[in-house]
Amino acid sequence: MLIISPSILAADFSMLGEVVRRADKAGADYFHFDVMDGCFVPNISFGFPVLEAMDKITDKPLDVHLMIENPEKYIKRFSEAGADIITIHQEACVGHVKETVDMIKGLGMKAGVAIKPHTDISALEPVLEDVDMFLVMTVEPGFGGQKFMEFSLDKIHRLRNRLEQKGLNTDIQVDGGITKENFKNVIDMGANVIVMGSSVFKGNIEENMAFYNKFK
Ligand code: DX5
Ligand code: ZN
Repeated sequence: MLIISPSILAADFSMLGEVVRRADKAGADYFHFDVMDGCFVPNISFGFPVLEAMDKITDKPLDVHLMIENPEKYIKRFSEAGADIITIHQEACVGHVKETVDMIKGLGMKAGVAIKPHTDISALEPVLEDVDMFLVMTVEPGFGGQKFMEFSLDKIHRLRNRLEQKGLNTDIQVDGGITKENFKNVIDMGANVIVMGSSVFKGNIEENMAFYNKFK
């Protein structure tokens, strides 16, 4: 099933409630929530108070993407703040990805594991059967508005093939630089959860969402 998850990092924060309600009404399936700590990535975004506000604004699942060091320290607090899905980076949890995934699922949330563009899908092997969603980053994490990395297409396809080989239909999320031009390409390669920040919140939200809803 095709899922559209607008990233609020690109939203106009002076009117966050209004633009999120518009995207919600226009067909957003999830809302993507990019947490950046200035350590794992060279940027700082937002945290618990904004997530609590999002939880009041929309009933759609809150798809929390943790671009932070030691995410295991904050899983419970993100759950309490309203997270429905928590995606951690494999690179931030080397040696304890499975334990962190189990912690997320133990709190009743869906667990995602993300890999950066230059991390190979083989890094996901230890948790291939344990995860609800894999996130294949299609830009270097840390900033919205970047250019899509074309080599990600092959990576998405290889991950989808590997999952099919194991009889798994786990969600594959893509995130970063997705536009009207490459949207269908990522779906054709096997992605089914599509994160978009600029392509939804920049310009006319309703028109942008109407374009993407056509593929559902
Ligand atoms: C980047 C974030 C992405 C980003 C997407 O580190 O993980 O979610 O906000 O924004 P666009 O769609 O504008 O690239
Ligand atoms: Zn993200």
